Amino acid sequence: MLNLFFKRRTIRRFSSKPVPEEVVQRIVEAGQRAPTACNLQTYSVIWVRDDKLKNKVLDACKISGAIREAPIIFVICADVYRLSQVLDYLGHNHCFRHGHGYLIKFMSIMDACFVAENMTMAAECLGLGSVYIGSAFANDELIETLKLPENVIPLTLLCVGYPNEQPPTRPRWPLSSILHIDSYKKPTEKEMKAFLEHMNYTLEKEGYYQKYANRESTYHYSDHIRHKTIADQQEKMDLEILSVLKKMRFLPS
Ligand SMILES: Cc1cc2nc3c(=O)[nH]c(=O)nc-3n(C[C@H](O)[C@H](O)[C@H](O)COP(=O)(O)O)c2cc1C
Repeated sequence: MLNLFFKRRTIRRFSSKPVPEEVVQRIVEAGQRAPTACNLQTYSVIWVRDDKLKNKVLDACKISGAIREAPIIFVICADVYRLSQVLDYLGHNHCFRHGHGYLIKFMSIMDACFVAENMTMAAECLGLGSVYIGSAFANDELIETLKLPENVIPLTLLCVGYPNEQPPTRPRWPLSSILHIDSYKKPTEKEMKAFLEHMNYTLEKEGYYQKYANRESTYHYSDHIRHKTIADQQEKMDLEILSVLKKMRFLPS
């Protein structure tokens, strides 16, 4: 298991070899074994099997290129709808009826993430590879496409299939930067400089941004993190996401 953890890396090119249904079910069952806050199991996994629907889901998430060939697409959702239904069935005057229960809703995001990561590692165990797609998060077009009820929020796609590439593992901060012992240690300038050099060098060696993002060879990790955090663009996305979370009753309006 530890070997699998240290070997795992995101796969974005998949072979056309079909994945048997029992394998798909096993992956989801392994997901269900993840810890879940108060055993409330506030998550759902949607296996998008229909080809037409799959295209709509990938379009909603603005996926182009090789990832579209992934044979298995899961939509991982935070879900307090099913719990609310059970509580209604019990005739309980529960918090969600009164516009409360945000702690449970935030926990449902954690629940769903643990399921997703268990599924990722189960896929690895079974010789499959995977990639998460972040643009699924509170994506209104995806919500409409899948006709999700209120209190169900898509968090990510998990695209799975047999790998058709063998990329290296990708670089990380050194352990000493992210593991704080007893108290929080702010990053020093030297540490940040060494980190950026390591990231830029290692990803350049793989040709990462050329391979997956059609970027020039002069585009580096330091450009990538700037690009991902442009204030105007993020403000626009924040507003969109907040409005969807409110519409879905995941945040107070
Ligand atoms: C929440 C989340 C969203 C992600 N979204 C995308 C995505 O939209 N497209 C993509 O190609 N990779 C996506 N990834 C994969 C990351 O880019 C990848 O994990 C990261 O670059 C580190 O590489 P590694 O997984 O190979 O170690 C996502 C990963 C996470 C955890």
